Formats: sequence, C-alpha cells, structure tokens
Amino acid sequence: MPRAKISALGSYVPPRLLTNDDLSKMVETNDRWIVERTGIRERHIADPEVATSDMALKAAQAALEQRGIAASDLDAILVCTVTPDMLFPSTACLVQNGLGATGAWGFDLVAACSGFVFGLTTAASMIMSGTHRKVLVIGADTMSRILDYTDRTTCILFGDGAGAMLVEPTDEAGLGFIGHLNEIDGSGGQYLKMPAGGSRLPASAETVEKRLHYVKQDGQQVFKYAVRKMYEMCDCLLKRHGFTPADIKLLIPHQANKRIITATAERLGLPEDRVVLNIDKYGNTTAATIPLATDDAVNDGRLQRGDLVLFAAVGAGYTAGANLWRWSY
Ligand code: UT7
Repeated sequence: MPRAKISALGSYVPPRLLTNDDLSKMVETNDRWIVERTGIRERHIADPEVATSDMALKAAQAALEQRGIAASDLDAILVCTVTPDMLFPSTACLVQNGLGATGAWGFDLVAACSGFVFGLTTAASMIMSGTHRKVLVIGADTMSRILDYTDRTTCILFGDGAGAMLVEPTDEAGLGFIGHLNEIDGSGGQYLKMPAGGSRLPASAETVEKRLHYVKQDGQQVFKYAVRKMYEMCDCLLKRHGFTPADIKLLIPHQANKRIITATAERLGLPEDRVVLNIDKYGNTTAATIPLATDDAVNDGRLQRGDLVLFAAVGAGYTAGANLWRWSY
C-alpha cells in the first residue's frame, strides 16, 4: 500500500482587517473582553465581491506553484467549507474550473471546523488506496457572510481565509501519514448551526426577518465539548500509535478559542513552544485555521522535514478529528 505525504502548502487571507476596536463600534464589546475570553485581536474580512472559491483558488495556486506542478496534474480537489459560493454547483467544481484542473474530480466536504482534518484523512485514504496520485485538500470559509454583526456573542469570533495542502504518494520510509481518528456526534447539532437556507427552512422573507441565515451558537455548550474532545482525540490517537505527547514536535490545533487550545496543551503536558497559536491574527476561519497555522509554523521554521505533527479539530455537528503525520518537505 503506498504511503501518503503532504508535499506542498498554500494559503490566502483577504487584505482587509477588522480589529476588536472596529467591532466595539458595531456591537457592545471591547478589546479587553475579546482578548481575554478568546485570544483574538483582529481578523481578515473578504471584500463584498470575493467569495469562498476566489480565496480557495488563490490558496490552491500557491500550493501548486510551491510544488512546481500544473493544475492539469491534479487527480482530485476536496473543498472543505460551510460557506460555499452557492449550494450547487460545488465549490470544488468552481475551483477545478478556475484552476484549469482538467483531469480532476472532486467534491465539497461539510464538517465545519473539523473540515480540514476530515479532508486530510480522506485524501490520505485516496492516496493509500492507490487510485489517486495528487489530491488537493482546500479549507476555505467566508464566515463574514453568515455572521450577524448585531450579535456580539458570535460576530467577534470568526474571520475569512483559505489554505490548501497537496497530498501525494511517497516511498520514503518513515515520512508522511501515520494515522487518524474522526468522530461525529449529531446530538450536539443544536448548539452551533445556521438554521435557514436549506430544505428544512428555505429562504423566505420570514427567515430573513428572523435573522435565521446567520451562525447561532450556544458558546458554553460548544466550549465544554471542545475542551474535552480536543484532548481526548489527541491523547487517544497518540496512544493508538505508541507515542506520548513528548514525542510530538508540534500540535497544530483548530483555532476557535485560545482557552480551548491552552487547556488541551496543559492536559497533554505540552509547553507553549510546541503548540501553534495564531488566533490573534485571524480569529476562527473555520476550515482554514489548520492550513493557515501550518503555513505560519513552516514559515517561521518551527515545522521541518521529519517532525512529528498532530492536527486536531472540534466543530459544529458535533465533529471532531485528529491526524498524525511525519512532516515531509
Ligand atoms: O470552532 C467552532 C467551535 N466553536 C467554539 O469552539 C466556541 C466555543 N465557545 C467559546 O469560545 C466561548 O463560549 C465564547 C468565546 C463564545 C464565549 O465566552 P464565555 O466565556 O463562554 O462567555 P459567556 O457566553 O459565558 O458570556 C459571559 C458574559 C455574558 O454576560 P453576562 O450574562 O455574564 O452578563 C455575555 O453576555 O459575557 C457577555 N458577552 C460579551 N461581553 C462583551 C458575550 N459576548 C460578549 C462580547 N463582548 N463580545
């Protein structure tokens, strides 16, 4: 069975910034509350004409350029998102066309904040099955389009962005994908959702008037689940493969709240310098947090070839996942 490795990474965030002070002019909040409770200082927001596929395309092009291959070399494109340009055609189809990836099939993967981790697992399985040689996994979300900027409990949390990783076979012993753990628990679906716009509550004047096309969250319920699950996923996956937290070079967690990340790191016994935290710059970009955080870690030299890296995420659904890789470029 071929092994799977990550061979390139690209990311994109829109240039426009929305700071905590900007938000304090829109809703009753302040920089101190947001920094203390979440760790977020600013987030990037897409201009009105920019949609998820536009950001996904830029991240994808950066990954292809880094690897030095043409879009036509791709076998598949997976776009992990909860903010597709439209319900159909899929954002994967839009990206495939925009890239000119004439030989690729693909689909959108809906797992909210766990999307990228589920996407990496799927891509690794496609490579290991021997049926695919180049799978591009993209995490992209334009959260600003589904946020209610009159609701201070949610609008301060999220930002926009995209990241892409290329997954390919490798015959280099000891590098690449080691294992994964994925879970869903639909009993938590009520605590974080966008109620309208699907077949249950199609768009109508009433759904718009009731502001049902926006993110609704019971923050405390999600927080409790996330703190417990993030640790459990990491601990269980490491044990399954005979590792301890001391063996990992970096934990790259989904960036939803600094307090969730530090609680997970503390329970694992990981010092600060072995956990990537960049929520201050981007907020929660949903499916894009892990590639954006990985890009930061690669660029500042914290993640290097041969390092053991653990990706972990928890999100709406509930969904939860973790992946273990030996970094390969
Ligand atoms: O990635 C997807 C998964 N999502 C998550 O992981 C998010 C998980 N949840 C959280 O991160 C946290 O629950 C929040 C950051 C959303 C909220 O933090 P919290 O410490 O749980 O605050 P809280 O909801 O308990 O609210 C505490 C107080 C309330 O006021 P009272 O009732 O004590 O008077 C809120 O109304 O803070 C108030 N509050 C705010 N105050 C200033 C809520 N939002 C704000 C705000 N600015 N933006």
